[in-house]
Amino acid sequence: MVPYNNVGYFLRLGWLVLMAHIVQSVKVKVAVYEHAVISHQNANGSFTRAEAFEFMKNNLHFIDTIADEASKQGARIVIFPEYGITGFYHTRDSMIPFLENIPDGSLVWNPCEEPERFNNTKVLKVLSCRAKTSGIYIVANMGDIKPCSKATDKSCPVDGRYQFNTNVVFDDNGRLIARYHKRNMFDETPLFDPAPNNEFVFFTTDFGRFGTVVCFDLLHENPTQTLIEQYGIRNLLVTSAWNVFYPFVLPVQMYAGISINNITIAVSNARSYDQKMAGSGIYGNEVEVSSNMDVENSEGELLVKEIDTFDNMDITINQKEPSLQGFGVIAANDFAQYMNSSISGLYIFGMNMSLVMLTGDSGWAFTCYEKVCCAVEYDFNVKNETELFVLSALDYFMLSPGYIHMQFCAIHICATNETASCGRPVDKASSTFSYVKLQGFFNPGVVFPFLSTSSDGQHHTMELNKYNFSRSKAIIESDAFDKPMLAIVVFNSVSAEYEQSNSDASSEAEHSLPSKSFHFMCISYVISCCFI
Ligand SMILES: *[C@@H]1O[C@H](CO)[C@@H](O)[C@H](O)[C@H]1NC(C)=O
Ligand SMILES: *[C@@H]1O[C@H](CO)[C@@H](O)[C@H](O)[C@H]1NC(C)=O
Ligand SMILES: *[C@@H]1O[C@H](CO)[C@@H](O)[C@H](O)[C@H]1NC(C)=O
Ligand SMILES: *[C@@H]1O[C@H](CO)[C@@H](O)[C@H](O)[C@H]1NC(C)=O
Ligand SMILES: *[C@@H]1O[C@H](CO)[C@@H](O)[C@H](O)[C@H]1NC(C)=O
Ligand SMILES: *[C@@H]1O[C@H](CO)[C@@H](O)[C@H](O)[C@H]1NC(C)=O
Ligand SMILES: *[C@@H]1O[C@H](CO)[C@@H](O)[C@H](O)[C@H]1NC(C)=O
Ligand SMILES: *[C@@H]1O[C@H](CO)[C@@H](O)[C@H](O)[C@H]1NC(C)=O
Repeated sequence: MVPYNNVGYFLRLGWLVLMAHIVQSVKVKVAVYEHAVISHQNANGSFTRAEAFEFMKNNLHFIDTIADEASKQGARIVIFPEYGITGFYHTRDSMIPFLENIPDGSLVWNPCEEPERFNNTKVLKVLSCRAKTSGIYIVANMGDIKPCSKATDKSCPVDGRYQFNTNVVFDDNGRLIARYHKRNMFDETPLFDPAPNNEFVFFTTDFGRFGTVVCFDLLHENPTQTLIEQYGIRNLLVTSAWNVFYPFVLPVQMYAGISINNITIAVSNARSYDQKMAGSGIYGNEVEVSSNMDVENSEGELLVKEIDTFDNMDITINQKEPSLQGFGVIAANDFAQYMNSSISGLYIFGMNMSLVMLTGDSGWAFTCYEKVCCAVEYDFNVKNETELFVLSALDYFMLSPGYIHMQFCAIHICATNETASCGRPVDKASSTFSYVKLQGFFNPGVVFPFLSTSSDGQHHTMELNKYNFSRSKAIIESDAFDKPMLAIVVFNSVSAEYEQSNSDASSEAEHSLPSKSFHFMCISYVISCCFI
């Protein structure tokens, strides 16, 4: 009897442990569809509303088919990309007939059941009916139009209307439950206006709470990090139209980096050869799936993956301020004397960077670009002598095509063995590291790790469980990479608050270093992010 009782005891114990686990986490399948967005050949022309809707049916047709397919595969939510209904290349005026005046998600409205309640809402109706018919939540991106008056609203555009890049969410019964206006624009004004205020939009289902943002919002403290840190949102559903920036800012690198703090993120990116857009993914606790990044491939791709919605998990992320610290034996104030002779280069958008070659099989290197300093300790496991790896530092305050102050420390492969090729697109590497410690010295901001391996059949893996990351110290450390690494990046999005408090002449670096002599080289080509 005794052994039997013991078994019973352990079974009960096991069951309790299992229950505790279930309380903490809800498993649900989500789907993202990377749609090869269809754009009108004459998107800058003038259209009647009927013509505009007729055109949008080309894209809506995919939403119909794919939402149904995703539901059949067991997904409860499906996401479609930014510009995935309207298409690209419109101008502010030519866009008008493509827009609908979208009510707030707090209104109880099911467009499929009550199609006549608002005029001019045929797109909303198609989405609603599809969600209802297929029994699946739908997140899609379209354009919202809101008449306004300069007399009562100072931020009202001169033409008397707002045009918003907008995510809409329908529940599985077809009700419009959320509407989000993009805040951080990228090369899309005046086509769309930024939301005049931050909107923190999320919704609750029986399988977790989900927040939604658009593309470039991901790299900003607001609304994305505030949604996470202050609203406790653990699950993000994102629409995007994001370019592939080899070698160190791939779309999937960003999604994976944002997931590192126990966030589940599902992103549907637009696929477009003309715009060099590809790369959708679902990342989270032990979850990593992404689409093919071959921009020449014009096939859409459906990803369906089970995630853990972490709903009851009490996670605090309160590590905003990377502080200046030593690196190994070097004290913080002694960096300048250790700085390796660096080369100055240009990355996309004319971003200046400085870089140091990682010579030999192991060692360390240190470089700064203005206020940003970067240190690495490295040990190659296999070093392919024809491959050039560098440590680069970058500090760039971008006003246009999008507003962001970003800082990077990156180890990455160069396109050839010449430093002039560093920053140019490259998607393959064969060298592996047995140890890497990369540290950034930044202004206060939101710090993420962006890593990716060499392309394997146009897929990159993010090695999510293969490294340690400290957000407060801005350090990535690993002795467990087994695949060839394309790039290992510590990225900082400088906080707007810090920016404001340092916007005048007093903005001298707290720890800027005397620069050694740089020679200058030029790697300049233009690609853009999040549209056109
Ligand atoms: C759109 O068409 C107008 C009028 O033909 C022209 O002035 C404008 O430059 C065009 N815009 C774009 C982006 O092609
Ligand atoms: C819809 O448009 C018609 C014709 O312009 C107008 O009479 C009606 O009031 C509008 N309905 C709503 C709900 O705005
Ligand atoms: C993420 O969740 C795990 C539990 O699953 C916890 O151990 C870990 O500390 C969390 N990480 C962060 C950054 O909050
Ligand atoms: C980059 O450096 C060059 C040369 O020093 C300078 O002319 C240019 O203004 C810099 N660009 C930016 C964006 O800082
Ligand atoms: C950087 O400088 C240090 C100190 O002079 C030296 O030990 C190290 O090898 C240098 N690293 C590289 C990659 O040149
Ligand atoms: C070394 O790198 C070169 C250039 O990337 C590549 O062509 C070659 O196949 C690599 N060699 C090995 C052994 O991986
Ligand atoms: C780069 O490789 C070429 C052959 O592929 C070689 O001739 C040249 O010396 C190499 N340059 C450097 C800086 O290693
Ligand atoms: C993470 O850090 C721990 C403790 O320092 C170390 O034992 C482990 O090997 C590290 N993991 C990776 C993947 O580097």
